[in-house]
Amino acid sequence: MTYISRRSWLRNSLLASSAAILPGVLSAADHQHLNALNKTLRLHWNENPWGPSPKARKALQQMVTSANHYPDELVEKLYRKLAQKLGVQEEQIGLTAGSTEVLTLLGQHVAMVDGEILSPWPSFPTMLMHGERLGATVKKVPLDEHDRIDLTALHAAITDQTTLVFVCNPNNPSSTEVPAQDLRDFCRKVPTDVMILVDEAYIEYSEQGESSSVIDLIKELPNLIVCRTFSKAHGLAGLRLGYAVAQKQNIQAVRDRHPGGDFSMNVAATVAATASLDDPDFIDMVVKKTAEGKEILSSALTNWGLKYAESATNFMYLPDAPFKEKLVENLSSKNVLITKWPSMTDHIRISIQKPEEMESFVKILKGQLS
Ligand SMILES: Cc1ncc(COP(=O)(O)O)c(C=O)c1O
Repeated sequence: MTYISRRSWLRNSLLASSAAILPGVLSAADHQHLNALNKTLRLHWNENPWGPSPKARKALQQMVTSANHYPDELVEKLYRKLAQKLGVQEEQIGLTAGSTEVLTLLGQHVAMVDGEILSPWPSFPTMLMHGERLGATVKKVPLDEHDRIDLTALHAAITDQTTLVFVCNPNNPSSTEVPAQDLRDFCRKVPTDVMILVDEAYIEYSEQGESSSVIDLIKELPNLIVCRTFSKAHGLAGLRLGYAVAQKQNIQAVRDRHPGGDFSMNVAATVAATASLDDPDFIDMVVKKTAEGKEILSSALTNWGLKYAESATNFMYLPDAPFKEKLVENLSSKNVLITKWPSMTDHIRISIQKPEEMESFVKILKGQLS
């Protein structure tokens, strides 16, 4: 091969490979979407603005070349790590594509036995909506005057018809938490033929952190299931990884209903989650910075005389916001997204992002209020 022909071979092959790869990597529309995402203040989905932890990023970069392999050993490694961290056996954990899958599988289960879901309200609606759509009955118990789950009223509402009690702690959308000991007492009082699903999606942000989890009660209570997610403090929402923890027979029941089971897990989510569990400093940073962001918003709300609930999460809840839909619309026209769920009462939910973003948001919000 002459020098010229080698150079042209190289150029041609590069052109050929870029033609083959580049158009498929990101289209102009994908770029536009990503740019828009970067310019938008996303205060509507309780996402972690810092993204994946440094160790998770590194693991993701390293896995790219092995994306051709099925994830079996890597999934096993994640099970081992989680079991160690949570103090349970591997058979007591069921991995899913986001905790949404746990919620929908259980909603489906209640519907299939013609059962009833009992839930505080407002609370996270996924399981209730899915269950109801498939034929389950849903009974709702209002929050107390501090927008906290009313455990006494919830317990009083349990009847022979109740199949499952849903307790989201800390609660979404109200952002409040119930004291860990009260929740433990509640779980112990629920009849053992009624399932309890405790959703701990925001547990890392709670005042007492992981120590307010009820996972340690699982060994005592055959009817308790806890679900968790890597979408919030771990910053992996886009990779979709969550899990259920319970006694073995309950996890087996969840697995039996899980289409594809562990075979439907993906390598990217699996390695990122495993690495993230080894990055507690990142979680500490996220929780600390989120608290700073919350302080910025709550001081402004206090100055303006607007009522908000005591938040144990990465979002804030304004129970009777005076402006509602109009504000959501006006902010959205300025590329600021906040949440007002149509099915819910008169409240607004605002996700906490980086402190500097919350400073910007406060300025924008002030403009809307004056
Ligand atoms: C309380 C609660 N549970 C579960 C989920 C579902 O999270 P994912 O499916 O991303 O794990 C969310 C998402 O916002 C949530 O707020």
